[in-house]
Amino acid sequence: MSDKKPTPKLDELETGPWPSFVREMKRAAETSPMAEGLLGVVELSYEDRVGHWKHGGVVGVRGYGAGVIGRYSDVPEQFPDVAQFHTMRVNHPAGWFYKTDALRKICDIWERHGSGLTNLHGATGDVILLGTKTEELEPAFEELTENGFDLGGSGSVIRTPSCCVGPARCEWACFDTLALTYDLTRHFQDEIHRPSLPYKFKIKASGCPNDCVAAIARADLSVIGTWRDAIEVDEAALADYVRAGVDVRRDVCDLCPSRCLTWDDKTLTIDNAACARCMHCINVLPKALRPGRERGACLLIGGKAPIVSGAMLSSVLVPFMKIEPPYTELKELIGKILELWADEGKNRERVGEFIQRVGLGSFLEAIGLEPRPEMVKHPRENPYVFYEEYFEEEPK
Ligand code: HEM
Ligand code: SF4
Ligand code: SF4
Repeated sequence: MSDKKPTPKLDELETGPWPSFVREMKRAAETSPMAEGLLGVVELSYEDRVGHWKHGGVVGVRGYGAGVIGRYSDVPEQFPDVAQFHTMRVNHPAGWFYKTDALRKICDIWERHGSGLTNLHGATGDVILLGTKTEELEPAFEELTENGFDLGGSGSVIRTPSCCVGPARCEWACFDTLALTYDLTRHFQDEIHRPSLPYKFKIKASGCPNDCVAAIARADLSVIGTWRDAIEVDEAALADYVRAGVDVRRDVCDLCPSRCLTWDDKTLTIDNAACARCMHCINVLPKALRPGRERGACLLIGGKAPIVSGAMLSSVLVPFMKIEPPYTELKELIGKILELWADEGKNRERVGEFIQRVGLGSFLEAIGLEPRPEMVKHPRENPYVFYEEYFEEEPK
């Protein structure tokens, strides 16, 4: 390659016990000048101890304001092949199911139009196609759409919704995460492709409280499957566990966070009204216990996991909602939240920070939800709910 340079620092990273991104980049560099240039820039960054990438102006494809992240090198004369190194986000299929020919097509497109380097799947969920030049964006987009792919969200938009594998592979799913994610992605097309919000808004759906997509920690709106009737118990399967040596009292009852399980060496009694739906007992005894039949989801709001500081877990917004097509109730609620936050939120203020600033009471009132005890983690912990009602009732 024309700009091939020695990379002693990167070479050292290859010597560790784990698979190395350096090895993959070198393999790509055998045929891709952009990957070769990337090796050079990264090596230089390690030498200089500064990043050599800068955000560019707005780059994108026609008709979209999102989906492409512009990057330029600040040392273009040294590494002309990566002077521009834009990233395209491609909307992944719900639950990340692909046929191999679809994956091959994506890779072929990216070898023709970009560096050939990809990232499946990071925090966004999207397929990340790393590194292309401005003039390759439209041709790459054209080929992607011809093959049934669309760009995902980037910037101040609804980001590509994502979900756990749900009912496709997991018997705990309390609603169809894949169907919901697909439907929301189509419904909110405009909000995904055209920036009109204060900042990013992530929607992630997990089929049960195990929360395999970690929605609670990183989605602005988490849809987490749950049930509101009784945990189902299969007595025969429970007896099998006991015969196999499972200590139900120690490993199940004593670890139940709400202490609502009792075991008298024969029968498991569950105080379902006190159950926190944490999944612990079901995870330990999967053949004997399962979520109840009356299933839906708990909606939580305000999670974020920024790289530098200020991580927030989401908190309960709607304790239980049925999640069934056409998902009207959920869509209307999301619509109200977005409208309020778009009007009143500050630039780059996530919805959780917005709620902290205006107060949960005002937020709930503006989107037309009643305060509920489930929104409060400990009694009196959240003063907004208590005092608002107090003030309203005072004049009587
Ligand atoms: C050409 C330069 C760069 C581009 C185009 C780029 C683009 C991106 C994209 C598209 C993502 C989302 C990936 C995903 O969630 O799957 C991402 C994530 C991230 N980037 Fe960069 N980035 C660049 C340079 C850097 C640099 C220099 C750093 C830090 C030294 C950095 C740190 C991160 C981190 C920590 C994440 C989060 C990863 C995750 O949670 O999966 N990036 N970047
Ligand atoms: S979150 Fe629950 S339903 Fe989804 S994959 Fe994990 S265990 Fe299964
Ligand atoms: S789901 Fe959690 S809280 Fe409910 S009974 Fe099982 S262990 Fe206890």
